[in-house]
Amino acid sequence: MMEEAIKTAIPSSADGMSRIDGRAKVTGKAKYAAEYRPDGLAYGVLAGSTIAKGTVTAIDIARAEKAPGVLAVVTHFNSPKVPGHQKPKKPTKKAGPILVFNDNVIHYNGQPIAMVIADTYERALYAASLVKATYNKQAHDTKPPSDISMGIAPWGKDSVRGEADAWKNAPFKLEQEYVIPTEVHNPMELHAIIAKWDGADKLTVWDKTQGTQATRDDIAKAFNIPAANVQVIAKFVGGAFGSALQVWPHEIAAILGAKLVRRPVKLVLHRQDMFTSVGHRPYTWQKVGIGATADGKLVGITHEAVGQTSTYEDFAEGPINVSKGLYACPNVTTRYKLLSLNIGTPTWMRGPGEATGAFALESALDELSYQVKIDPVQLRLINYAKVDPENGKPYSSKYLDEAYKMGADQIGWENRRQEAGAVKKDGWLVGYGMGGGMFGAYRDSATVKAVMRADGTLLLQTAVTDIGPGTGTAMVLIAADIMGLPADKIKFEMGDSSLPNAPMQGGSATTATVGGAVYDACTELKQKFQKLIGNGGTDNPDYAKILSDKNLAGLDVTTQSSLGADAQNKYSMQAWSVHFTRVLVHPATGVVKIDKVVSVADSGKVISQKTARSQLIGGAIGGIGMALMEDAIIDHRYGRYVNNNFADYHVPVNADIPQMEALFVNKPDSHINAMGAKGMAEISLIGMAAAVANAVFNATGKRVRDLPITPDKLI
Ligand code: MOS
Repeated sequence: MMEEAIKTAIPSSADGMSRIDGRAKVTGKAKYAAEYRPDGLAYGVLAGSTIAKGTVTAIDIARAEKAPGVLAVVTHFNSPKVPGHQKPKKPTKKAGPILVFNDNVIHYNGQPIAMVIADTYERALYAASLVKATYNKQAHDTKPPSDISMGIAPWGKDSVRGEADAWKNAPFKLEQEYVIPTEVHNPMELHAIIAKWDGADKLTVWDKTQGTQATRDDIAKAFNIPAANVQVIAKFVGGAFGSALQVWPHEIAAILGAKLVRRPVKLVLHRQDMFTSVGHRPYTWQKVGIGATADGKLVGITHEAVGQTSTYEDFAEGPINVSKGLYACPNVTTRYKLLSLNIGTPTWMRGPGEATGAFALESALDELSYQVKIDPVQLRLINYAKVDPENGKPYSSKYLDEAYKMGADQIGWENRRQEAGAVKKDGWLVGYGMGGGMFGAYRDSATVKAVMRADGTLLLQTAVTDIGPGTGTAMVLIAADIMGLPADKIKFEMGDSSLPNAPMQGGSATTATVGGAVYDACTELKQKFQKLIGNGGTDNPDYAKILSDKNLAGLDVTTQSSLGADAQNKYSMQAWSVHFTRVLVHPATGVVKIDKVVSVADSGKVISQKTARSQLIGGAIGGIGMALMEDAIIDHRYGRYVNNNFADYHVPVNADIPQMEALFVNKPDSHINAMGAKGMAEISLIGMAAAVANAVFNATGKRVRDLPITPDKLI
């Protein structure tokens, strides 16, 4: 089946099997974390700090406590202590994850300081409005970085490959600053949890999480109970792109609240909490110096970055990684630092680090292309890395050059001119741009249980979650191919920490990881059947008949599977992408219309054509948001986000999205797993913002280096 559905170099189309859970999702049958109804369910609502730095001196909860239906009002004054929340012995600046209701210290505006639990949501919401805190206010700092010297928390080491700052000696060179603002996670499903204690030390939670077992382990640690006593269920996740990779304060709050009122407690964040308390893509200042010879050979790259973090915890990512790895450049210097501010801690967000870095690097390369007068695709081919420039290792697979060609052909790159403002159509300026990306192709360890039942249907079980890409669909396609079964005879059960071990869904690793385990488990199960019937078996066993002949109720295997150390040591494993855009810019209003997008992924073999296409398009749309719209703005007088809602924080909607095409090189990587499939989540976004910015320059001659590219920056 997989063979049938997949041909090399997949064109953009919606062919292929539809999502196995599509009907459940569109009919409301799919149950998300907030939709469970355990008996006695109570409702928690958080109240947040209205200052950005200082201490809480008093919290008046008298009126809230007397409000109808209120079961408890929790603050740091009366909260049950979370046993795993120990203050570090030596107080350091970075104390680690914020300890909810633990002390009176305010680190950021909106930090949870109280939780009302009531018998209905409306009553909890009303009572929470009656909670009044008084503060000892201190001067806060929310102003983001604007220079490398502001990075006061070095993370990792400065890195020099070859000669330091060698770009300065090149005949053609430039040095520019690039800024990406804070972007926030805004999946359709808000972060939500229902916590239910069973006695003093058994806990069930329905949670929005990207990893049922990681969340289980973190909760068990916090509440000092055995992990085996905690069950985390996340059967469906309504979109997650990094924000559900860790346990946040609201989850701990709901769990301790449920303990206090001895009832299950549900806590759903409000949209404005999504801006403060579940991380964000950090505002990052970058400076790139880049130099080349007249024939376009890169002489050196220096990439500096300062990201923002909170005052209580470090969050670091890899914005400078792309400069180390994307091109065969002999001299690369990178410096990366953090600036602590009175904000909530940032977190991973689709293409974390690399998406930020690729905006700077791929913009700088585009600027260079106009200096050396070489087509940007050609410039990239001149500097094509055939081996990993950091360590000299061969790639497990790399067909990025083919991706460049596919994308250029499809967008009509030959119509582009290596001169800004040269092409016009119907009163609009027309520009073409491109930008590429890379991200590590990871494969972790996972265990899958495969059960063939008497009726000839196959059940696959593992703890992984599906945060949206269609993991179940891809897993069913892998199993169908090996077992020789139709997809509707296969059930993939997931999203429960009590199922066999699987890592979090993050870092684009699930198809390679869990897919590898599904492949191995199914192969083993099929062999078990073939052994049963003897004579070397058959290629297409009739499973139900064999079970019935042998008088068996079923047959199962549990298989653990991971990447061999050999592959890991020998090869550099990466996934690649390139995005091409055509934009129209109105010369009078500065309005940018994305006219066409062609995104090409070199992510190994494509398993599920339809969901892979959706994934690639979805990520590229995220890149359009990054390029043109997303910008979480703080009013620095109060240290408070002012556009913390969907009216003011803009994300692309259907009307903003043009013809999108997703292409796949679709050549297997023979080292990562038996299917040859690499991840493609992060690369779907990485490089896209630069592709838009470069097209805008090509159209207008205006280089915007601080995102988002709003009309005021173009007129
Ligand atoms: Mo991944 S950062 O969870 O898109």
